[in-house]
Amino acid sequence: MTSEVIKFNQPWLSGQELEYVKQSLASGQLSGDKTFSKKCQSFMESRFGAQKVLLTTSCTSALEMAALLCDIKPGDEVIMPSFTFVSTANAFLLRGAKIKFVDIRNDTFNIDENLIEQAITSKTKAIVPVHYASIACEMDQINKIAKNHGLYVIEDAAQAVDTQYKNKYMGTIGDAGAFSFHDTKNFVAGEGGALIINNPEWIERAEIIREKGTNRSQFIKGQVDKYTWVDTGSSYVPSDMLAAVLLAQLESMDIINDKRQSIADKYRDNLQPLEDNGFFKMPMIPSDCTSNNHMFSLYCQTPELRNALLDALNVANIQAVFHYIPLHSSPFAKENGFYECSLPVTENVSDCLLRLPMHPCLSDIEIERICSVIHQSLM
Ligand SMILES: Cc1ncc(COP(=O)(O)O)c(C=O)c1O
Repeated sequence: MTSEVIKFNQPWLSGQELEYVKQSLASGQLSGDKTFSKKCQSFMESRFGAQKVLLTTSCTSALEMAALLCDIKPGDEVIMPSFTFVSTANAFLLRGAKIKFVDIRNDTFNIDENLIEQAITSKTKAIVPVHYASIACEMDQINKIAKNHGLYVIEDAAQAVDTQYKNKYMGTIGDAGAFSFHDTKNFVAGEGGALIINNPEWIERAEIIREKGTNRSQFIKGQVDKYTWVDTGSSYVPSDMLAAVLLAQLESMDIINDKRQSIADKYRDNLQPLEDNGFFKMPMIPSDCTSNNHMFSLYCQTPELRNALLDALNVANIQAVFHYIPLHSSPFAKENGFYECSLPVTENVSDCLLRLPMHPCLSDIEIERICSVIHQSLM
């Protein structure tokens, strides 16, 4: 008898999503920046203490907007980790930037703040720290380096919605931050994102870039009597119908956080003896940071051990997965003559990391089943 599939990810719905979508449809106002979008933006501005939050069609588009705000020009260099999703790099590549990859730390899997300075040249324009799995990068040091060298800091906080570094919310610490509300994230709108703008000089331009390069937002606020083409930009505003789904999710943030925390605690309790035996390390959360438990990963001692665990879990119908193929070693980077670099920690983490199913719908029985396959494989 084959056992039922345990999914790697599954969005959790509060039930209020459908009610809000019905209201949105009934209002007849389905384009962007209507009632639900405004409520989502105000919710995040107040919860995160952010100056300005703009909903976007994805985190990818929020990052693209950030690259435009940084005024990236061909030849400018942008520093980021290679252990990230393609959008972190593509957003800046689209503006002609050269991407300079820096190695990560072997505890948080975030960009190693001590290696950033040596990657800076006269052409460097921005640093893009990625808060992997919702654990914060060392933002104090990164901001200090950026300040000393006159660089922008754009936080890729796709996975780090509603998490803190030294009592500040992630996304609110650099010049701007980007969130994702993709189906695979903690709070979902199917597709969606937000740009958090912390640099006050960027707010007006961000609204223009997001509205296809027009001053439509100023027109709607009654600040100009007609709207026109004033800058470059694109279509980054999501439908209010998706914002309706998102609002229900944002209002359930504490419930979703609690469910994920409880699952992470159960994994930790069950797997602690195996960590103590040195088979793997479970996620490390620095004492001055919080986690939204976006992921639960095992950093295995060797690639062979990771692959054996992955096989055992998959054979047992459990959707455990590995993570990023480092961008610097991707076919695209090789074909396009990216900086040749060796990033030993990145490569090791990519080879040794295993991600277990993690979503609020995971039951105790499923967690038990996942852990027992891991225990049995290591006996
Ligand atoms: C670190 C990181 N950046 C950016 C993105 C892109 O997010 P979206 O799918 O909302 O464009 C993701 C999505 O997985 C991500 O994990």
